[in-house]
Amino acid sequence: MARFSCIFALCCLLTASASNIRIKSLSAARSFPANFGFGASTASYQIEGAWDVDGKGISIWDYLVRTDPNHIADNSNGDIAANSYYNYKRDIEMLKELGATHYRFSISWPRILPLGRSNYVNQRGIDHYNAFIDELIANDIVPFATMYHWDLPQTLSELGGWTNEEIVDWFGDYARILYQNFGDRVKHWLTINEPYIHCNFGYGYGRHAPLIQSPGEGYYECGRHILLANARAYRIYNEDFRNTQNGQVGIVLSSDWAYPASDSADDIQAAEDYLAFHLRLYMDPIFSAQGNYPQTVIDRVQAASTAQGLTASRLRPFTQEQIEYIRGTSDFLALNTYSSKIVYRNSSLTGTFVVPSHNDDAFLDTYMDDSWPASESPWLREHAPGFYNLLVYIKDTYNNPTVYITENGFSSTPGLHDDGRVNYYRNYLSALLDALAEGCDVRGYFAWSLMDNFEWAMGYTQRFGLYQVDMEDPQRTRTPRKSALVYKEIISSRVIDYDYNPDPYDTDGAFTVSASIIMTLGVAVINMVL
Ligand code: BGC
Repeated sequence: MARFSCIFALCCLLTASASNIRIKSLSAARSFPANFGFGASTASYQIEGAWDVDGKGISIWDYLVRTDPNHIADNSNGDIAANSYYNYKRDIEMLKELGATHYRFSISWPRILPLGRSNYVNQRGIDHYNAFIDELIANDIVPFATMYHWDLPQTLSELGGWTNEEIVDWFGDYARILYQNFGDRVKHWLTINEPYIHCNFGYGYGRHAPLIQSPGEGYYECGRHILLANARAYRIYNEDFRNTQNGQVGIVLSSDWAYPASDSADDIQAAEDYLAFHLRLYMDPIFSAQGNYPQTVIDRVQAASTAQGLTASRLRPFTQEQIEYIRGTSDFLALNTYSSKIVYRNSSLTGTFVVPSHNDDAFLDTYMDDSWPASESPWLREHAPGFYNLLVYIKDTYNNPTVYITENGFSSTPGLHDDGRVNYYRNYLSALLDALAEGCDVRGYFAWSLMDNFEWAMGYTQRFGLYQVDMEDPQRTRTPRKSALVYKEIISSRVIDYDYNPDPYDTDGAFTVSASIIMTLGVAVINMVL
């Protein structure tokens, strides 16, 4: 550990020019601009439940939890989850309690198109989201709608899912239906959530649906088609909807910040390659002046493919026409970021990766500093300076794009006293103030998550909610955690008060008692009397 601390201290001293690394102390309390948006995020499969009602089709997650239930840590599933399909008015009430101005949710593709393709539209699915969006608008909450957060219709997965180029058409047709039905009220569209995570876990290492194991081929094909599908959805909006609907369309990308483990040339290059393989692989084609994949990724995959005796790179090159088609197809960057990594590359990695795989192509490995506060998720430790570094890197590398932080959060065990999450939000929001002071064009922040939900392969073992959800209770009662009270205070005061220490068990004055809690208590009393 002592050795590690020295290395970490050393890496903090590296100059920006050598490695794009910056370290800055967290700011004292300054204030968020009055027009800065604050909200929270969720995703359809993680909260909605109602997996087979009102004409909904089967998604790849519905299929996975039925065919391979042991794949989920606690053998659970999203059949009911937080039951938000029925509890959505309470969800919106929670946003009001927080004082949130924005909500990021996702639309379930198979609820709208049960067969995946646009030749059969489920009107009851449309009706559900119409009622939900109307309720948001009636409560002055700005909807940020994700079109795709990993719940692909199973029918399309049977045809190859994101590895089949036809999905560019399927997704475009789906996006058109969303614009037609909801675009009068939804002015911020998020096309596809996190290509790196979806392709890595879904099509690379088989940890998420659809459990494909193809880390050297399927992973790259998935990413390629996501970039093309995002472009298709963006261009359909431009051609047929932008003039009348005046909204914006953007993609959701994810990355942690990367520090080199030492000042060796290999480690510095490895940290840069980490960003190239995680963030720039998706960001450069859309946000860079020249478009296309980063040259460093093209070169590494080509070299590895050649060494493997292949006559063409596993990262299929885009045509010049495709490069132009993809370039510029995001009005803003929706950024999901949680943690930081320390990156190294040396001979100890030889033989540690599946061959072929994108991890072998990148040929680097990561760890985190033990001193960074740990969450319930092994990949997530709190390190707010990395958030600042990432935002400044994006500003400098991509000519200061408009950014919304669409996910940021910390996992805990159940319980209302979530001081780890409180510290995380305070420190990350403080780092965000530093980034704003540095000129980063960040317009809004969405905490992940509004409430506890189905954490994919980890089931309900890792909780991310500002609100605790009682997963044993048929009502799926929601209760604000300490972090919810702290977030509410930050939203209303616009400053971060490290001394504010609310008691989540004493919410008098913090939140009004909600109608659904009154209902639940009322039913309990009636049951006792009877
Ligand atoms: C995903 C969320 C997930 C969160 C925490 C993000 O990568 O978009 O769906 O719950 O990370 O793991």
